[in-house]
Amino acid sequence: MEHTAGFGKCNKVCESEIEHVWERVRVPLGQRSYDIRIGPGLLLETPAYLRELGEFTGPFVITDTNAGDLVGHDLISLLKQQGFGHTQLLSFEAGEQSKNMDTVVSLSRSLVGLGADRNSLIVALGGGVTGDICGFLASIYMRGVDFIQLPTTYLAQVDSSVGGKTGVDLPEGKNLLGTFAQPRLVLADIGVLCTLPGQEIRNGIAEIVKYGMIKDRELFQRLEDDWWNIINLEPGVTAYLVRRSCEIKAEVVSKDEREGGYRRVLNFGHTIGHAVEAASMYTIAHGEAVAMGMAAVSKISVSRGLLSGAEFDRLLGVLERFELPVTIPEGIGEEEVMENLKRDKKVRDGRVHFVLVKGIGDTVIADDVTEEEVLKAIRDSRG
Ligand SMILES: NC(=O)c1ccc[n+]([C@@H]2O[C@H](COP(=O)([O-])OP(=O)(O)OC[C@H]3O[C@@H](n4cnc5c(N)ncnc54)[C@H](O)[C@@H]3O)[C@@H](O)[C@H]2O)c1
Repeated sequence: MEHTAGFGKCNKVCESEIEHVWERVRVPLGQRSYDIRIGPGLLLETPAYLRELGEFTGPFVITDTNAGDLVGHDLISLLKQQGFGHTQLLSFEAGEQSKNMDTVVSLSRSLVGLGADRNSLIVALGGGVTGDICGFLASIYMRGVDFIQLPTTYLAQVDSSVGGKTGVDLPEGKNLLGTFAQPRLVLADIGVLCTLPGQEIRNGIAEIVKYGMIKDRELFQRLEDDWWNIINLEPGVTAYLVRRSCEIKAEVVSKDEREGGYRRVLNFGHTIGHAVEAASMYTIAHGEAVAMGMAAVSKISVSRGLLSGAEFDRLLGVLERFELPVTIPEGIGEEEVMENLKRDKKVRDGRVHFVLVKGIGDTVIADDVTEEEVLKAIRDSRG
C-alpha cells in the first residue's frame, strides 16, 4: 500500500479548504447523544473539539501501524503543541488479524503502564478495526472510560464509527466478543481518505449503496449521477455521502440502539454477504461480499414481486459502475454459503432474517425466505 500524504496535507481535499462542505450530524440517544462532524481538514481541529469535552487524563490515541504512520504522529505533535502535553500514542499491527483479545490485553497493559486512570479519554484513530478494538477496550478498561472516534477509512466514516457496536473476533468467528458503547464524538476528516487504496474506497461505497437502497432514493440517484466525482473523492459530494450515511445510521440506531429489531434493516446485503465472506475464508473483501449479498437478496425481492426488474437493474448498474461484483464466484460453494448463513449470530429461533427491498429506498424484514429461494438467487446470479 502506498502511503504518501501527511497529516493535513492530503492533496486536493485539504488544500481546497472548502469550509462550506463541513457537515454535522447529531446522534440522538438521550444522555449518550453525540455529534458527528464531517469535513476536510477536521483532524487539525481535534484539540479544539477535545477541549469541549472537559477535563480528562490523556488523551491516549490508539491507532494501527498504517494510520499511525499517515496521521498518528502528526496528530500527537499537534496535540502536544496545543497544550495536551500528556497525550500518548499507542499502536498495533494493522489488519483484521489484530482484532482479538490479545491486542485488547496488550493495549490495556500499556495504558496501565502509561498511567491511564478511570478519567482517561481514548481516541480511536483509524479504520473499523481500530474503532471496534478501541470502543471495546474503552467500554471495559477500569469498568469503562470515554472514547472518541477519528475514522480514517471510508467504511469507518460512513458506518463503523457510528452506532456504538464494538468488539473483537474469536478464532470461531468475527465480532463474537463485544459491547454496545457510544463514543462521545466522531470527527470524520474526509481529507484523509485520499490515501486509501481503491479497494478500501469501494468497501465504503458498498455501504453507501446499502443506505440508498434501504432508505433514500435521492442518495441512490446521486450515486448514479455523480459517480465520477464520487470515485475522485470530490469534497462536496464526499461530505454529502458521509453525512447522509451517518444521518441514516443515526436515525436507525436512535430507534433501536441494541438491535432489538429495527436496526436489522442495516443488515441489508450483509446476511448473505457475511456468509460469502466466511465461505471464501475472508479472501473476498467485505465491500465486495456485501455487493454480492445486496444483488442476491434484491433478486429474491424481485422474485417475490417486491422490487421491479428495472430497479433491480439500477442496483446492478450502480454496483458495476463502482466496480463492485454482483455475482457470487463459482469457487464459492452453495453449501458453504448456506452453512455459514445458518451459523450467523443474528439467526433467531433457527430463522434467518433477510432484509428485502420494496423498491429503492424501502425495506421489509422476512423470516420466511426458504433455502430454495436463496439457492435460486445465487444460481441465477451466476447465469
Ligand atoms: N462497529 C460497527 O458497527 C462496524 C460496522 C462495519 C464494519 N465494522 C468492522 O470494521 C472493520 C473493517 O473496517 P475497515 O474496512 O476500515 O478496515 P481497517 O480498519 O482494517 O482499515 C483498512 C486498511 O486501511 C488502512 N488505513 C486506515 N486509514 C487509512 C488511510 N486514510 N489511508 C490509507 N490506508 C488507511 C488500515 O491500516 C488498514 O490496513 C471490520 O473489522 C468490521 O467488522 C464494524
